[in-house]
Parts: sequence; structure tokens; C-alpha cells
Amino acid sequence: MQTNDVVMQINQLNLAYGAFEVLRDITLGIKSHRVTAIIGPSGSGKSSLIRCLNRMVDLVPSSRISGEIYFENNDILSSQCDVVQLRQRVGMVFQKPNPFPRSIYDNIAYGPRLRGVRRPEELDHIVESALRDAALWQEVHDRLNTSALDLSGGQQQRLCIARCQAVKPRVLLMDEPCSALDPASTASVEDLITGLRENVSIVLVTHNLQQAARISDYTVFLLDGQLVEHGPTQELFTRAEDQRTDDYVTGRFG
Ligand SMILES: Nc1ncnc2c1ncn2[C@@H]1O[C@H](COP(=O)(O)OP(=O)(O)OP(=O)(O)O)[C@@H](O)[C@H]1O
Ligand SMILES: [Mg+2]
Repeated sequence: MQTNDVVMQINQLNLAYGAFEVLRDITLGIKSHRVTAIIGPSGSGKSSLIRCLNRMVDLVPSSRISGEIYFENNDILSSQCDVVQLRQRVGMVFQKPNPFPRSIYDNIAYGPRLRGVRRPEELDHIVESALRDAALWQEVHDRLNTSALDLSGGQQQRLCIARCQAVKPRVLLMDEPCSALDPASTASVEDLITGLRENVSIVLVTHNLQQAARISDYTVFLLDGQLVEHGPTQELFTRAEDQRTDDYVTGRFG
């Protein structure tokens, strides 16, 4: 059900909130160690789709989901899925940076500590390497014990990415991670995302078509809860197969 270069395989996924059908018959393979951008107009179901991938959608009491999502040889939609473990393997970064109101160090050490890491040297090592991976070490190494809330917005977002990376997820979901950031901070987060592909597969929801074109390898176009087109980013932006995709990426609607 899952080939080597596909980290998550979504088959015939349907999602409804009460009587409202949000996603219809989505089939999609998420490529390993690549950035997949999800684009589409407001309300097309982008956030709903990525929230299925770590079962965050369970938090909406009226949600009903059907289909299959294969990850690490299991269907994560099955009742046997360990959702806590799933959310460590499939991390998530939100629109607004949401560091814990604790020190920079404690933000990163939080996940590893929960998983039983106690030795100070081991925690120090995890914190340093997560911050290095997030291109934040140079900026914060001499203030690890100060509050994460004193960082700039862009630094906070990179810290949140580092916090996910500290538990070594296989997939990282990002829902408009730059929309609350200024252009300079956006550029630093985009650089970071590009570099992270070595370690993790990324699914990025973005409203910003230029951003999708700049940093994603594959792009998925959603419209009214349906997958219109999925392909290599360059192709989708220059030679879309579906007229609706072409209209959207050339700014004719949305
Ligand atoms: N908790 C909820 N309960 C009921 N309906 C919801 C809920 N969350 C989202 N919806 C509806 O589902 C549809 C898809 O929403 P979703 O947030 O997935 O879209 P989106 O593509 O992420 O939009 P945006 O670009 O504005 O973030 C919308 O019509 C929205 O109003
Ligand atoms: Mg959204």
C-alpha cells in the first residue's frame, strides 16, 4: 500500500463536519524527503486535510472521516492507532508561533523529557542539535535560559520547528507557517524548510503561491474539498493539466 518513496498514502479520504462534506475522495501519496505544498482558495479544505494526517481533526466533535491513510505500514484512521505516538511521528507547526512560556532550552527539551530522556548531557546534545538544524543556534546559544517569548516572531517560529524536530518526526505538517511573519523572517523560515528535507518529509499549506513555487517539490491544488491536480511544482505552475489549476496559479481567481 505504501511504496518506498511515499511516506504517507492517502486513499479515498472523505471528511465531513456534521452534514457538511469538507473533503471528498482525496487520493494522494506524500513523497518522502520532499516538500509538498497544498494550495487552494480559502475554505477549500487545506487545513482540514493536513489535520487528518495527524488525527488533529478528531478534536472537532462533529467530524466524520472515512478512507485510509497509510503511514509506517498502518492505517492511521483505524481505531487501533496510537494517536499520541502518531503526533510525535507526524509533527505540526501552526500559523502563529506558539512557544511554551518557558525557556528556550525547556521548549526543546520538553518532548525528549516526556519520552524519558533525563541525562543532562543527552538533553544538552538534543537541544543543541535541534537548534542547529533550525538555524537558530548562533542566535540563541548564549541565552538558552531566557524566555522563548522574548524571541522575535521569526525566531519563535524556528524554535517551534526545532521543538518538533527534537523528537525526530518522520513528517512535519505546517499550516501557513509564515503568514504571521515579516518578509525577512519568512525568508529565514523558507531557507530552513528547504534544508529540513534531508531529515523529514514536509507538508506545507500556503496561501502564498510564490512561496509554494519557491520552496516546494510537489504541489497539490484543492478546490471545494476535491483534489484537482497534483504534480511536480514546476509543471503544475507552468503546464497545469486542468484549466481550473491554471486559472488559480495565474491569479485569475481565489
Ligand atoms: N470545526 C469546524 N466545524 C465546522 N466546519 C468547519 C470547521 N473547520 C472548518 N470548517 C469548514 O470547512 C471548510 C474547510 O475549512 P478549512 O479550514 O479546511 O479550509 P482552508 O482551505 O484551510 O481555508 P483557509 O485558507 O481560509 O485557511 C470551510 O468551509 C470551513 O468553514
Ligand atoms: Mg486553513
